[in-house]
Amino acid sequence: MSTDAPAPGTGQPSTAGLVIAIDGPSGSGKSSTSRGVAARLGLRYLDTGAMFRAVTWWMLDHGVDVHDPEAVAARAGEPLVESGTDPLTPTISVDGVDVSVEIRSDAVNAAVSPVSAVPAVRARLLELQRAVAAEGDIVVEGRDIGSVVLPDAPVKVYLTADPAARAARRALEEGGSDLAATEASLLQRDVIDSTRATAPLVQADGAAHLDTTAYTLDEVIDQVVALAEAVAAGDAS
Ligand code: DC
Repeated sequence: MSTDAPAPGTGQPSTAGLVIAIDGPSGSGKSSTSRGVAARLGLRYLDTGAMFRAVTWWMLDHGVDVHDPEAVAARAGEPLVESGTDPLTPTISVDGVDVSVEIRSDAVNAAVSPVSAVPAVRARLLELQRAVAAEGDIVVEGRDIGSVVLPDAPVKVYLTADPAARAARRALEEGGSDLAATEASLLQRDVIDSTRATAPLVQADGAAHLDTTAYTLDEVIDQVVALAEAVAAGDAS
């Protein structure tokens, strides 16, 4: 579908069919921003971090040693991960079990980066992520969306924020967990996510960098929506 015509009755360029890739480290505001942008523009939403978390939960639940990449790779084809893409009520299940709460546990937080670094896990989820995104009309968030999963996405955003701001946001999301421990945990995940051999966290070619430290969520959403509308109108670089 063309994305350069005004949406009927709005005077805004239509963002129908658009694919928006949003990457960044934990606590950069990715999830809230991605959901907000999707809701505002009437797009679907895919949280790829939740998919890696669901696989991690499954590995822990099945007694797999998450620090043994060969053991994880050997079982990577087994979990059946399904993501609901409504930005207002995103869901995640594995083997038919809703794991939305379980995937935010400390155990999963501690194990998700090593599990995500296993190429067989990435290959399986890459296929799923591309299948979901293939229909368009979607905001996809993660670490490697603009660089590896959807390198041709017309809108790419790389969100960052100061570590202290990121820890404060994550602690709030987690219901007031210890700030120092939260910051240490996310910085540790940053190191693993940015230095792994397969699809490390990087700012993708053509991605707009947005440091969210000084902005409210609504201001960040406004900026991403403006970028998407500029791309839809054909006047963004
Ligand atoms: O966004 P999040 O904190 O829920 O992501 C959890 C972990 O999943 C993160 O530490 C790295 C991994 N991840 C990834 O490797 N690639 C993605 N596209 C998304 C997440």
